[in-house]
Amino acid sequence: MSDFLTPSQARKFYDGFGARQDRQGFYEDAALAELCRNCEIDKARNVFEFGCGTGRFASLLLRKHLSPDARFSACDLSQNMVALAQDRLDEFSARSLIWQCDHTADFEPGKPPFDLIISSYVLDLLAPDGISDMLTEAARCLNAGGRLGLVSLTDGRQGFSWLTSRIWAKIQHWRPNLVGGCRPVRLAEYLDPKIWRITHQRVVVQWTIPSEVIVAVRR
Ligand SMILES: C[S@@+](CC[C@H](N)C(=O)[O-])C[C@H]1O[C@@H](n2cnc3c(N)ncnc32)[C@H](O)[C@@H]1O
Repeated sequence: MSDFLTPSQARKFYDGFGARQDRQGFYEDAALAELCRNCEIDKARNVFEFGCGTGRFASLLLRKHLSPDARFSACDLSQNMVALAQDRLDEFSARSLIWQCDHTADFEPGKPPFDLIISSYVLDLLAPDGISDMLTEAARCLNAGGRLGLVSLTDGRQGFSWLTSRIWAKIQHWRPNLVGGCRPVRLAEYLDPKIWRITHQRVVVQWTIPSEVIVAVRR
């Protein structure tokens, strides 16, 4: 059995998981706040989110961080997640677009070029080829000087967070469905330095669960 959920398994899982995704805030929120502080979000005018889930992070961005004239678009594989996000972002519909994508990493419906692309807790569930495809499309769709902001589960570097991430990785290996297909990853290893310049990289630990925040500028 593969360690990774196939796109159709991931779609089925997240269609079923739906609004329960919002309960993950207990370990996600500190890392998302770290991303907001470090990706010059207030300067962005055309923002794209890959894998928006229920739209919880998108709603925070539109309410608190993005300029009122910034455009926002997002895609998700799951039909249920897209419906939840569209509902949540209804009041911003004049300047936002949420669509259901397939697994081919095509950001064209969001109308690139973007000056900021973000993705939280999505690349850590993709197989390595899927991560590379997403990063290739992100590089194609970002302006030179545009920013990529990523948050993912990662390996704890020490103590309890190290232990938690080891246990998490074992569960993902044996029963990927129990953890939504997500596993600890080190995304910097996927960022080609000829294309990306990392401007911020930090591991944030909440409730012993380590998340990595990376901001990279498209050269
Ligand atoms: C763990 S959830 C994270 C959702 C949201 N980004 C957050 O931080 O709350 C993963 C999301 O990625 C979506 N997803 C999985 N594979 C995807 C793919 N290939 N393309 C787009 N979205 C995908 C799932 O449907 C799900 O909504």
